[in-house]
Amino acid sequence: MITNIIPTDGLNYDISRMKDVKLLMSPTDLKFLIRMLKIRNPKKILEIGVCNGGSSYYLLKESSPKSIVHSVDIETECPHDRTKMCGYTVEENLNREIWENRWIKHLGMDVIDCIDEIGGDIDFVLIDTVHTMPGEFLSYLAIIPYLKKGAVVVLHDVYDNYHEIINGKMLTTWNADSFCTGLLLSSVPSKKKYMPDDDVPNIGAFIQSGKEMDYVMDVLRALFVKWRYIPEEMMDKYSVMIREKYGEKASKFFDECLKMQYEIKNGKYLDFA
Ligand SMILES: C[S@@+](CC[C@H](N)C(=O)[O-])C[C@H]1O[C@@H](n2cnc3c(N)ncnc32)[C@H](O)[C@@H]1O
Repeated sequence: MITNIIPTDGLNYDISRMKDVKLLMSPTDLKFLIRMLKIRNPKKILEIGVCNGGSSYYLLKESSPKSIVHSVDIETECPHDRTKMCGYTVEENLNREIWENRWIKHLGMDVIDCIDEIGGDIDFVLIDTVHTMPGEFLSYLAIIPYLKKGAVVVLHDVYDNYHEIINGKMLTTWNADSFCTGLLLSSVPSKKKYMPDDDVPNIGAFIQSGKEMDYVMDVLRALFVKWRYIPEEMMDKYSVMIREKYGEKASKFFDECLKMQYEIKNGKYLDFA
């Protein structure tokens, strides 16, 4: 249930540099992100999905100078400009004093590979990666045990499929399958969810209730929809993590889901579409 709608019109944050820093968000999305930061005033921030570094720029600029920001991207070179590293726009646009001793980049890896090093007590997260299944679901499952009760988790591009199609930007069928963060937002067992007051918002957030370990099956069940891709090189790590962190029942469920995804991929089931 979406319990809190945030009006973003009246928020007077300085977002004038969003184009310079090549942020991949709309003005409404950015105002919502900053509002969530101000509500929580976090000490330990985790960003998953960096690209140019536009969201890193605002997470660093708008949070307390005493906070630490960990930024994770599976790529080392920026997918939008391969001559530069992910996050380059922070170094190019933000005063060094603001980020120098509080920004830790984890590039060329998935969050499952660095979450132990990042450690617990995370109280603010932005997840903004592929948007197709199983994408952000896996990232979220990898970090739940490291989140503080009351942590804010912001998900971007929650209705990317809708927005890409309506705006006529849809180039491939990939975008039509771009509903992963929306499904995640719907399936998390949080009673406190937030969205901006757009007709069809493209960003949302929820608060960790602290009971996620008990309700992880709600999240796992949603994984049974057809995946857009199987990140094969990471699946063993995820299977082991699910067993270790969430127990035998969750592990059997996840492995069954994975088996089904491979069967679909290998054409075992007829496509009636
Ligand atoms: C939409 S962009 C991020 C945009 C950025 N948050 C912003 O608003 O400026 C998505 C990024 O996610 C990264 N990515 C894809 N899969 C990932 C994964 N499993 N873990 C971490 N990053 C991932 C891509 O390499 C890409 O740089």
